[in-house]
Amino acid sequence: MEIDATGPGASVTVIGAGYLGLTHAVCLAELGHDVLAVDTDARKVAQAAAGTAPFFEPGLQELLRKQLDAGRLRFTTSHAEAARFADIHFLCVGTPQAPDGSADLSQVYAATDALAPHLAGPCLIAGKSTVPVGTARALAARIAAQAPAGARAEVIWNPEFLREGSAVVDSLMPDRIVLGASSQQAADRLKQVYAEPIGQGVPVLVMDLETAELVKMSANAFLATRLSFINALAEVCEATGADVAALAGALGYDERIGGRFLTPGLGYGGGCLPKDIRAFGAVAAELGIGSLATVLTEVDAINMRCRSRTVELAREVAGGSLAGRRVGVLGVAFKPGSDDVRNSASLDVCGRLAAEGAVVTVHDPVALRSAALVRPDLQYAESAVAAAAYADLVLHLTDWEEYRMIDPHVLGAVVARRNVIDARTALDEHRWRSAGWSFRALGRP
Ligand SMILES: NC(=O)c1ccc[n+]([C@@H]2O[C@H](COP(=O)([O-])OP(=O)(O)OC[C@H]3O[C@@H](n4cnc5c(N)ncnc54)[C@H](O)[C@@H]3O)[C@@H](O)[C@H]2O)c1
Repeated sequence: MEIDATGPGASVTVIGAGYLGLTHAVCLAELGHDVLAVDTDARKVAQAAAGTAPFFEPGLQELLRKQLDAGRLRFTTSHAEAARFADIHFLCVGTPQAPDGSADLSQVYAATDALAPHLAGPCLIAGKSTVPVGTARALAARIAAQAPAGARAEVIWNPEFLREGSAVVDSLMPDRIVLGASSQQAADRLKQVYAEPIGQGVPVLVMDLETAELVKMSANAFLATRLSFINALAEVCEATGADVAALAGALGYDERIGGRFLTPGLGYGGGCLPKDIRAFGAVAAELGIGSLATVLTEVDAINMRCRSRTVELAREVAGGSLAGRRVGVLGVAFKPGSDDVRNSASLDVCGRLAAEGAVVTVHDPVALRSAALVRPDLQYAESAVAAAAYADLVLHLTDWEEYRMIDPHVLGAVVARRNVIDARTALDEHRWRSAGWSFRALGRP
């Protein structure tokens, strides 16, 4: 998407240049702002500054180069430099899962601890990371205690809803912009930063800090709940001989339900949903809202069960044991359009198959390198056909478009046995069966 950003831009920093932060920095530059991105990972900074995105995201690499060339985007490891550079700082650091399931906020605190002592005047710290409710207010007090006198830092929360795989488009033209603000002036300044998408009709919702934090956690909880609900229905279908794909299709026609995020299969993974559902559950438990904590614990349990049920189905198709069986795997990224394998359900299943003695050969259009870093013990193939060669079983685990297009006759010619499990409810069952494949899926007869 080409944005014609006219008029002088603001100077802003983006602290944390990972999946969210790098995309945000590049897109803010595309909107016409002067951007300094800060990350503690010197290798990542050097790579991005040299024009190479450290991960795959459609359109990101091109925009990164364009904005570096335009001189609107720079990178540093220095928070002090960031404090001098701008008076709007976007906080995009990670909030991973702590061992007890809650959100680990150490990156958030480390980032502001490094920034605050160098602040020289009034400024805005706009949090985009996904955090538990109450974080923004606690952070504001912590920053106030560390900033020099006169450096009045106001914290605003601007949660991010981008989806990996369409992150650039989502950043440039989001569904909505949520601003949790303590003052109208703070909200107005961020509205100026987003003037371009707002001018094109993107709605802006201004609210208090706590509600803004909750919007993000609640959105992820809703989405995860939909997926786990349909996957629990898949278990009902399995127990009764019904077909969950037909069931989901019929449910989706009800416009109050809708068909999106209702695809049965292997469930969700990635760097966000699993940890955010657990963090929200931890918050609910801490607040004494046991009912929500229980719902979210079940959502997580159903989701994780999808992975073990997929392995059980593979074992059944393999004749009762996976030991020595050759399994060709299509897709290892946590979702199509990304090379991210953080908490990838697919990679988890691959590991479990290998643990049972299967010889697992994996293909993915872009995620082979990132998967091999995490699971060097698996075998990797440069094409779907190579992954399937001599396989006793083919597992379709990530819903890339190119796998939907595969000719089952071509794959059928290289496998040892024509067994396929479609764990993403994406392949054309009739086509595969017509080509002589035994076609299996969770929740389907
Ligand atoms: N990835 C997504 O699709 C997505 C979408 C919406 C929201 N989020 C949220 O955004 C946040 C970041 O997620 P991510 O996927 O980009 O994580 P990430 O791990 O890819 O990126 C975090 C970055 O922060 C850097 N960092 C850590 N400590 C730092 C510090 N003190 N100063 C500067 N940089 C520091 C890390 O080196 C890393 O590059 C999380 O809260 C996540 O839940 C992510």
